[in-house]
Amino acid sequence: MSTLLALDSLDATEALAARLANMTESGDIIGLAGELGAGKTAFARAFIGARLGIREVPSPTFTLVQVYENDNGGAPVWHFDLYRLEHGEEIFELGIEDAFDTAICLIEWPEKMAEHGPENWLELRLLPGDTEHARRAQLTPHGTRAAHLAQLLAAPDG
Ligand SMILES: Nc1ncnc2c1ncn2[C@@H]1O[C@H](COP(=O)(O)OP(=O)(O)O)[C@@H](O)[C@H]1O
Ligand SMILES: [Mg+2]
Repeated sequence: MSTLLALDSLDATEALAARLANMTESGDIIGLAGELGAGKTAFARAFIGARLGIREVPSPTFTLVQVYENDNGGAPVWHFDLYRLEHGEEIFELGIEDAFDTAICLIEWPEKMAEHGPENWLELRLLPGDTEHARRAQLTPHGTRAAHLAQLLAAPDG
């Protein structure tokens, strides 16, 4: 079962990302799905900015992963872009299993993991909206923790 949230502007996307950033903890995995230009990196940038105060968040298109440490001792954030991954098992060369256990993972193109992906994760798909700057976020939880996060995100004051 999935939930759709309207995002009328980039500001709305960034606000949703900031809300999620403040709910997540070590071990949480967020898959950012959607076509090129959907806003996956924009979402990740706002998430990392809100959580760690880091403004410089390039797209890890070629490195596939960028790690952001938390100077206050909290969980680091690992930002993946798996667009260029050819085989699902290549994720293990990126140290992703450690990250699943000890970090917060933001994964663009999660479908590239195929059957090697995690069991428990929140799928957040950015879909086109009615205008150039509108999007819709489709939340599909996999596992009870992700269901809890999705429920909090869908609650207007959550
Ligand atoms: N509501 C919105 N949410 C996210 N991005 C938006 C929105 N409206 C406009 N944009 C723009 O769309 C582009 C999305 O690019 P990007 O985040 O790199 O996409 P992706 O990583 O999905 O390929 C950015 O230029 C961003 O400013
Ligand atoms: Mg991107």
